[in-house]
Parts: sequence; structure tokens; C-alpha cells
Amino acid sequence: MRHLPVRTPPGGVAGRVVGALAAALLATTGLAAPAAAHSDGTPPSPATAAPADPLAEGLAPTPPMGFNNWNSTHCRADFNEAMIKGIADIFVEKGLKEAGYEYVNLDDCWAKPQRDADGKLVPDPVRFPNGIKAVADYVHSKGLKFGIYTSAGTKTCNPAGFPGGLGHEYSDAKQFADWGVDYLKYDNCNNLGVDAKLRYKTMRDALRATGRPIVHSICEWGENRPWEWAADVGHLWRTTGDISDSWGSMLSIMKQNLPLAPYAGPGHWNDPDMLEVGNGGMTDTEYRTHFSMWSVMAAPLLIGSDLRKATPETFEILGNREVIAVDQDRLGKQGAVLSSEGGRWVVTKEMADGGRTVALFNESGSPQRIATTAEAVGLPDAPGYRMRDLWQHRSSHTTGTISATVPAHGTVLLRVAPDEKWAGLPPAVELTADGSPTAEEGRTAGIVSTVADLGRTPVRDVSVSLAGPAGWTAVPASRPSVPVLQGGARLRTEWKVSVPDGTDPGTYDLALTAKYRTPQGDRTAVTAPVGVRVVVAPPAGVSQLSDLGWMSAANGWGPVEKDRSNGESGAGDGRPITIGGQAFAKGLGVHAASTVEYYAGGKCSGVTARVGLDDEAGLRGTVAFEIWADGRKAASTGTLTNVMPSQPISADVSGAQVVRLVVTDGGDGIDYDHADWADAKLSC
Ligand code: GLA
Repeated sequence: MRHLPVRTPPGGVAGRVVGALAAALLATTGLAAPAAAHSDGTPPSPATAAPADPLAEGLAPTPPMGFNNWNSTHCRADFNEAMIKGIADIFVEKGLKEAGYEYVNLDDCWAKPQRDADGKLVPDPVRFPNGIKAVADYVHSKGLKFGIYTSAGTKTCNPAGFPGGLGHEYSDAKQFADWGVDYLKYDNCNNLGVDAKLRYKTMRDALRATGRPIVHSICEWGENRPWEWAADVGHLWRTTGDISDSWGSMLSIMKQNLPLAPYAGPGHWNDPDMLEVGNGGMTDTEYRTHFSMWSVMAAPLLIGSDLRKATPETFEILGNREVIAVDQDRLGKQGAVLSSEGGRWVVTKEMADGGRTVALFNESGSPQRIATTAEAVGLPDAPGYRMRDLWQHRSSHTTGTISATVPAHGTVLLRVAPDEKWAGLPPAVELTADGSPTAEEGRTAGIVSTVADLGRTPVRDVSVSLAGPAGWTAVPASRPSVPVLQGGARLRTEWKVSVPDGTDPGTYDLALTAKYRTPQGDRTAVTAPVGVRVVVAPPAGVSQLSDLGWMSAANGWGPVEKDRSNGESGAGDGRPITIGGQAFAKGLGVHAASTVEYYAGGKCSGVTARVGLDDEAGLRGTVAFEIWADGRKAASTGTLTNVMPSQPISADVSGAQVVRLVVTDGGDGIDYDHADWADAKLSC
């Protein structure tokens, strides 16, 4: 029963077989003595080694861009010569080559499981019947570059076990160079516990010794903090375990890679793994966030979907040249987090032209206003700033406010710079709705919309409208239009939104639209999403919380369970709730960090429960429980451990609209923090 939310990277455990084997290998391969010049597998004399500074080779002055098959095919049979050639064709035909995509790379499974009698690698004859050189030649004939994969171990990561490069660095590098390889991804599986620096430096030297410029992509999943030592060893290094095609995976990798900004620069990049855009596991909004954030992080942009089957939306995302220009900016700075609170992220990247790229990223599940200023992102004082929206392809000016209402899981990506000619651009107009309004079915929700002119010049004929799903009505309760909105002015409008009878609980999207005329005479419309939460009034009397529907539930490991312990990452996989040997029939099984919200509608008086760590965690984990009444902490426990029996907790929640049950990690990280709200009751 493991429940560490961070997955051990592939091969991370299996690859760490240490000891005698490794020592023997070092002794027999010359790995430990890289100056001995000899035949296959051993290095030449240092005099033939290429320049020490990887940038001097002119490689990866900006993050590498291209394609790698892994995320779309893994080891499947459709990874073959036809695919690779097809991708090269599409790079040219669809303008991706012109947009900057350059490398067409093979991942694992291209080789036969055995080397030949001379110790050479042999291409899989079914996948690559004409060999690797033929594919490389084809890719080169299109003006593109070609990449290949192997592992800094005895075998690659696929369980089928293809030969790895450990102990064969010089001969394998030579074979790659002879084939015309321009890029090597060097993985970490089956490494026998040999020191990572030694393994990757040996391959670096072997690649240099070929005399062919070859990008060295270190793939040791961040295990040995390569950002601290690999700037002159590889041109990029993976910072995390493998990405998968899901929102959670992408987000967690983004969060691990963001703090590493200071380590990236021209010729040496942090690599948060290849793109999943177009593989189908995320929405296009989420894929735009993925692509925006990878670009702001100056990450390598390796397309990971089979472009032969890609939708127009996928091409539109991957081909967005304004976003690519952020990634490829020659200053080579990785963007850094300016602020992050309540799921509202502001990440800024300094650009070669002195401006900033600003990503306003909404991690949360409902639309939010995210705002910063020109000053806060580090721009000099100026009367006006040019602001370019890189997804909408629209320019405007602002006096300094940089803000937008960002949809759930979305990112607004802006380039901002001082501009003397600001007056020639229309003013930025921001549209927002307050908070996240809540209503019971059959009742009305109050929403306040604001249209704000963020510039110095006026907009005219301003009107705002609000549209709901079918059957909903939105009526303005105050003025929805004005003839003129001056620079810096706002139009606030109150709305009564009626939720039809019988609407199921959940969050519903409404669209707010503002129309106006710019000083340049253009009619313009901007829209912003508004989320309305439809809730169910709590029944009068005492209810078990596990019998009520919650408004929202967030959990550190798998979903929140009703009348079960948290269990593992699946739904419904818990066991009877048990704290210190005492079993409970009712309650919620959660895992830190957890927040479960219930609608009380101002009609409830109290919450009671017995809380503690569930016995399924073993004698591990520490947590603390809190009950919140709207913005007020109404009760809390101290830090609880697994040796404690269940503790009582009770809170006065009189008048609260929303009651929030929170479990924190007790200050020591969230591992093994299986927590129970046993016999949890709400009195209304
Ligand atoms: C590891 C790497 C992946 C991929 C596979 C291939 O998991 O991290 O990117 O190359 O190996 O087996």
C-alpha cells in the first residue's frame, strides 16, 4: 500500500542496482579512465576531443524544437519508418518547419534486442527495413535534423530491453554520427548505480569525439539534480519523471520545473518533458495552457502527437508563432513565478527586447480574474504600454494594469512593453464578474459585471450583456450601457440571474460580452466566462455529511470517499473508516491536502465529527483538521498522528453560506496522510 503522490520515475528503482556489477563494468569498459585511446567502446586521446563549451558548438542557443514519437506511440508497431517520414513531410507541408520545428527524433524501441557480432546496434528490421541512415537521409533531405535515443545503462527503459550505451559510449556515438544523427536523448534506465555525472560526461565526450555536432539531451528525470552540474554536460536535461496526457500530470511537472528557472540559459535548458498537445487527454484550453507554460518556461518544444492524425486545433496550437517566439527568445531566460494564490498564477519571462511575457494562468476549476502591473513584472515607468494577446492576436495599450478574466484551466498569454506610440493602439478593455456566485435551483443569483478601460483613451457605445445556458435568464438590475467610457473608468452592472427549476447541482458557464467602439473606429467585442454554482439547500435537522452532495472536493491522493477510507488513487477503493482500531459506518475518507465544501445557505448551526488518521496508513503520517465557516476558522485540531485515537471536533457555523472541511499535512509533506472525518454531521 503505497500512496506517495509523486510516482517513482520509470526505471528509477530497477535502474539502481549498485555495487560489484558496477565496479566490474567500470573496470572493463574504460569508463573510469576516459583518456585511454583505443578501439571500440573506449575513448580516443583527449587531444581529439571537441571544444569544452557546448555553446561554442552553436548547439541549442534556443530550446530545441521538433518531434519525438514516444508520447503518441510508445513502443507500438505504428512507430516505424513510415511515421517518421510522414512527420518530416508534415513539418514542411504544414509550415511547422518554417515555424521553427527542426528535429525529428526517434525514441525507445527502434533497435533489435541484441547487438551484432561486432557489438554494433542493429535497427529493428520490421520498423526500419531500410535502416536508420535511410531515415536520417530522408529527414535531412527535407532540411530537417534527425535524433535518436538510447539509455545510459545496460538496457533501455522498455521492458523488452533494447541495448543501452553504458560501456559502449564511443562506439555507439560513432555509429550515430555515421548515420547522421544530430540529437541524442540519453535515458537513465538499468544504469547499475554508476554515478550519473560520470555516465553523462562520458557520452558527452564520446559525442564530441565524433566531430559531428550532436545535441545531448540528458534524461535522468531530475534524480541527480542535473541543473546543478550539467550545464557543460548536456544541452538540456529532464527535470522530472515522465509526463502523461492528463491535466494532473502536466500540472505537477510544470510546478516542479518552474522553480528551476535560474538554471536555464542558452545551450543548457531545463526539460519538463515532451508535449502532449493533441493526444486527446486534455481539452484544447488545457493544451493551450500546456503550450503557453512550456514556452514561458523556455522548455524544449518536442511535439508528441502523431501529426498525421492531428486536428486543425492541434495545428493551430503547435503552430502559434507568437507563442513559439516566446519560447525561442534569444535572451534565453526561463520565466519565473511572480505570484500564485488561490490557483491564480502570474509567471513572467524577461525578453530580449526588454519587454516581458506575462502568463496569467488559472489552475482552478472556475473562471478567475488574474491581475498584475507593468511595475510588478519589472517594466520601467512609462505613460503607456503595448500589450499583445498571443492567443487572440490582438494589440492594445494599458497605463499599467495587466489583467484578464481567465477561464478554468486556461492561460492568457501577453507580451507587454513600454511603447511611445501607445496612443495608436486601442485601450485594453477588461471584463470581469465578481466572485463565483452561488444559487439554489429555482432561485436567483446576483452577479456584478465590470467593464474597465485600462488605457488612456475612451471607448464609445459601450454595452454589456450576459447569456446563460438554455432556460436561464439574466436581467440587468442597473445600467448595462454608456455612451462613453473614459480611460481608467468602469461600468458596473448588477444582474439577476434566474436558475431554472430542477437544475442539477454543479458549476454552469455563462458568457459575459462587452461591445464598444475604439478611438480608431473599430467595433470590438470582448467576452469573459462567468461560473455560477448551483447548490442544494441543506435539509433541516441533523444530516451525515456523507449523505449530502458537496459543492467542491479537492484531495491530495485520489478522490474523497463517502463512508470509506481514502484508499488509493481510484474511486471507491477505500476500506471501512477505522481510527485507532475503532470502525465508523459513516464519514468522509480524505487525504491531505484536502478541502471539501458544503453549502449551508446561512441555515445551519454546527458541525461535529470524530477525526484522525485512518489505520490504513500504518503508523505513519501526520495531519491537522480545520472547519471553516465562510472566511472564519471555526475549529481546528493540532497535529494528529497515527498512534492517537479519534478526536472530537465541533464548530459553530451559524450564518455561514459555505462550510469548509480542511485537512493539512501537519507540516511534514502529504505522504501517508490518509485522514477521516468520521461520523461527520451538519445541523441545520
Ligand atoms: C523513459 C523516458 C521516456 C521514454 C521511455 C522509453 O521512461 O523518461 O521519456 O523515453 O523511457 O522507454
